[in-house]
Amino acid sequence: MSQKQDQWTSKLGFILAAAGSAIGLGAIWKLPYVAGMSGGGAFFLIFLLFTIFLGLPLLLTEFTIGRKTQHEAVTAYRMLAPGTYWHWIGKLGVATSFFLLSFYSVVGGWIVIYFARSITEGIGGRGAEEFEQLFGQTISSPWLAIAAHLVFMLMTILVVQGGVQKGIERVSKIMMPALFVLFLIIVIRSVTLPGAMEGVRFFLVPDFSSLTGQTILFALGQAFFSLSLGVSIMVTYSSYLKSNESLPRSAVSIVGLTIFISILAGLAIFPAVFSFGLEPTEGPPLIFIVLPTVFSSIPFGSVFFVAFMALLLFATLTSAFSLLEMVVASVTKNDPAKRKKAAWVCGLLIFVLGIPSALSYGVMGDVLFFGLTFFDALDFLVSNVMLPLGALLIAIFAPLKIKKDELYDEMQKGSAFKRSLFNTWYVLVKYVVPIAILLAFINTLITGGV
Ligand code: TRP
Repeated sequence: MSQKQDQWTSKLGFILAAAGSAIGLGAIWKLPYVAGMSGGGAFFLIFLLFTIFLGLPLLLTEFTIGRKTQHEAVTAYRMLAPGTYWHWIGKLGVATSFFLLSFYSVVGGWIVIYFARSITEGIGGRGAEEFEQLFGQTISSPWLAIAAHLVFMLMTILVVQGGVQKGIERVSKIMMPALFVLFLIIVIRSVTLPGAMEGVRFFLVPDFSSLTGQTILFALGQAFFSLSLGVSIMVTYSSYLKSNESLPRSAVSIVGLTIFISILAGLAIFPAVFSFGLEPTEGPPLIFIVLPTVFSSIPFGSVFFVAFMALLLFATLTSAFSLLEMVVASVTKNDPAKRKKAAWVCGLLIFVLGIPSALSYGVMGDVLFFGLTFFDALDFLVSNVMLPLGALLIAIFAPLKIKKDELYDEMQKGSAFKRSLFNTWYVLVKYVVPIAILLAFINTLITGGV
């Protein structure tokens, strides 16, 4: 057995780091654009159901595995099922994190550019169309997109090479609430724009005629993406945890926060989209066009915009740390002597893999894989295939390889988890989660996504 691991410096540290991993581009950037392309309200409702009935139980499962074993994911699965192939769940998670971070960092780069611009140029009194053009110009410049992606990766590497991110925990305590407050300001402005109600309706009133087989798979992928599930990162994070923390309570808080920020993001974006006469189907650039336009119609909008971009960058970085941490922890097996080198080597490889994604909205815009740009194809593979597959395997693994009583004991530590709730969790993870994921896959295969 290897040496004792670092532990979180405070009780709050773990929850902040886990929430930091969860809250990021998933809720703020991805959800609005995927919901926009998938018909709005019906998508959002299914996403919520998946988040509560599949995401929450799975988050608790990952936490339980991590704290029980006190080891990063690959080792954790090895300990629980020695001599089997189950530790490949951990390896799949590492590969998924690697791919995911490569395009996540490209969007991180766009935020870096917008943040820098918000300081040097402000936003002026531009309208939606100008912001649309500006976005197009910005990311279609190959060198700028690659340089920004590199800057984002370097920031991520610099923090991860230093070990479990102590300073970050402390800063999160201020940054996260500040992000919520700014979001509330945008929501208030957005829903009071002329014609905003159409957008509120689009986002909150389900229209089931817009649903396709693929929508359901996308909602599933989105639920796992925004909770950082399926790659065992939450196993790794909770392995640094002492036994006096309530796992069920932590899981509920993180899911609650993620849902809350998802709703804020939707209410910030869609009313404005309709009010400005934009299309909700804009795709990945959506928030980069809508948000600056909203800010430009708020008094002191330029100042708020700088603050918002800084906070969004922070939220994005805390998610990126978790992704690189996942890769680095599995390469180094928590040997501190290897951490620095591993962070640089893995981080730079991820940067290289991200280059074609960075070019996907510019010079490589016409290079298509199954009809998708490199960026979109990789995102599809990660979010809608690899994450659900990882989640499926974790849901099969836990009840199969850990005794029911041991699971209950672990969840009870630091909390008074009722047996009846535990039984509900057990049924959800053992039956509902695997069946739902399989059905979503099968449905997509049969309908061909239509
Ligand atoms: N959850 C993060 C977000 O919503 C992204 C993320 C971080 C992630 N780590 C992950 C997604 C692990 C899946 C798996 O922005």
